Amino acid sequence: MKKIVVLVSGGGTNLQALIDAEKSGIIKGGSITCVISSKPGAYALERAENNGIPTRVIPRKEYPDSVSYSRAVLEALDEEQADLVVLAGFMTILDECVTKKYAYKIINVHPALIPSFCGEGFYGLKVHEAALEYGVKVSGATIHFVNEKADAGAIILQGTVNVERDDTPEVLQRRIMENVEWKLLPKAVSLFCQDKIEIIGGKAYVRE
Ligand code: GAR
Repeated sequence: MKKIVVLVSGGGTNLQALIDAEKSGIIKGGSITCVISSKPGAYALERAENNGIPTRVIPRKEYPDSVSYSRAVLEALDEEQADLVVLAGFMTILDECVTKKYAYKIINVHPALIPSFCGEGFYGLKVHEAALEYGVKVSGATIHFVNEKADAGAIILQGTVNVERDDTPEVLQRRIMENVEWKLLPKAVSLFCQDKIEIIGGKAYVRE
């Protein structure tokens, strides 16, 4: 069984999707063993506790910079003996001390079709605001490995939704979460835990 450590910062609906998927047997070969939050009081922590999953809080605000924060996260991941790290609404960019040691072992969910509306500064509702501002007719979410550049690691899965004329950022966010994120994140985690993702020339391919 692979040990899955989930990093969160907020409401944790993606964490909930992972918890539900594990319970219903959708995630094969892995189990969530720890949830780490960058924010004390994040509702995601309550979701973990309600399901008997151990939690840790490493507050981003207590560290002066990304490197010192990332070192603290790295120590926790090593202690937890994480086989897979999932960034599920984790709003902090991790330094290369983490991404290098856990290369192709960190999966992120980004709420747009990478390479659009991604990179530093694009997170949460800001992503959907930018997509609506641009006037795209489809958007979606991307599940990808995390590397040294924000939102630039190998893409594992993507899914789309239509953008409607009167969408608000909140409405579009919800449509993408329900139709793409909550389905594809557990699917990618399950594929990883079954060793069904292969990397060839820096790109990720699903082995059927
Ligand atoms: C999700 O839409 C996730 O894709 C996004 O934040 C939301 C978190 O929701 N993540 C990012 O923007 C990361 N760059 P949740 O806490 O309910 O899972």
